[in-house]
Amino acid sequence: MNVYDSDRMSDVLTPLGYELAPDPEGADMVILNTCHIREKAAEKVYSELGRIRELKAAKAAQGNGAMVVAVAGCVAQAEGEEMIARAPVVDMVFGPQSYHRLPEMIAKLEGGAKHVLDTDFPVEDKFDALPKVARKASPAAFLTVQEGCDKFCTFCVVPYTRGAEFSRPVAKIMAEAQKMVANGTREITLLGQNVNAFHGADESGQSQGLGQLITLLAELDGLERIRYMTSHPRDMDDALIAAHGNVQKLMPYLHLPVQSGSDKILKAMNRQHTGEEYQKLVARIRGVRNDLALSSDFIVGFPGETDQDFEDTMQLIRDVKYAQAFSFKYSPRPGTPGADMKDQVPEDVKSERLQRLQALVNEQAADFHGSMAGQEMDILFEKPGRHDGQLIGRSPYLQPVHVMAPDHLIGQIARVRITTKSTNSLGGELVGAREVA
Ligand code: 5AD
Ligand code: SF4
Repeated sequence: MNVYDSDRMSDVLTPLGYELAPDPEGADMVILNTCHIREKAAEKVYSELGRIRELKAAKAAQGNGAMVVAVAGCVAQAEGEEMIARAPVVDMVFGPQSYHRLPEMIAKLEGGAKHVLDTDFPVEDKFDALPKVARKASPAAFLTVQEGCDKFCTFCVVPYTRGAEFSRPVAKIMAEAQKMVANGTREITLLGQNVNAFHGADESGQSQGLGQLITLLAELDGLERIRYMTSHPRDMDDALIAAHGNVQKLMPYLHLPVQSGSDKILKAMNRQHTGEEYQKLVARIRGVRNDLALSSDFIVGFPGETDQDFEDTMQLIRDVKYAQAFSFKYSPRPGTPGADMKDQVPEDVKSERLQRLQALVNEQAADFHGSMAGQEMDILFEKPGRHDGQLIGRSPYLQPVHVMAPDHLIGQIARVRITTKSTNSLGGELVGAREVA
């Protein structure tokens, strides 16, 4: 989502005469767009600011004018005033809900304000206030449909930093998607902190779920692929599960975090489901889409996690079989219930568990990746490859695929037979000359 937000910031700044610089050196403005999900985020920002302070001083010393330094995103939201006090190099601090007001903030600075702080949750719709720029379309792009979260998992800062759940109205999403497709986008990933809790109002004011939204989007000519992330198992409703079976444009790759395989830990995390319920859910979705591949997030070392609890997680991974997984040591986030729980797990135990878990998921990921060889699949070509005449595209499972193919296929989907694999990518060849879209 930060990639999407950063792109929107650049949209806001373009009419003011700004353009993207290749690196911060010599730039007129540097924005650090930050994430606060795990520990040390704030520390990383402060150490990065140390580096930027030097660049700012060098620019001034060369007589090249001022460098405006801004911190955006959830670290800015959480630190607020504190950030300006601790790092005087910072000119602007603003949260994820305020970046559409960048022009006003810049005007304040130009008007002589020493610092600008904007961490409000405004009542107006940020998305309405964003400029409608005809950006150069990428074949695969993000579209935010939902923000915030009401789930309050006991380890997570999102409900505090991003606030309550909010869904954009269906018509506005459809209009944005239509424009993206007209500009050449073929694949849209619907974004939200808890995207499958989406409940946007339609024209008649009725609330529509993510399954309905995906069904509507699938009717757009020229849009070939739909994805969504990140989801909570509790919000996979019947319509969304059905969409996985009915909507061919919905890609068979689902990020569905389970976090832990132990019912005791899942309860302490306030996830509101058991390991068995998760597995039944996965079976239901695979039941309607048998080529579905899954990815998940895992946290090891949540307070109270015993060896047995950890083994339950390992067993769940063996049972479900993931194409990919992201795993983290639990980090206590101030202000969340988990941080005050007793039985915090020692760091060395967390490290050891993380290593074991990662070895298992890496093995599964390699198996999955290896199983692609010899298969034929649709590839969406995104950009030229490193070698002459080569393009890089993505498989339905987001793997990069290198293929010798003509340039005019960029932004199009073509049938490819997978012939080679390396650790993180695949190689293939066009099947005949048939282009699918
Ligand atoms: N400690 C470790 N991992 C966390 N995540 C969120 N909060 C924490 C935390 N306090 C992980 C979860 C989530 C992913 C985005 O980050 O696994 O799904
Ligand atoms: Fe955080 Fe996701 Fe839980 Fe919401 S559902 S509190 S974003 S982990």
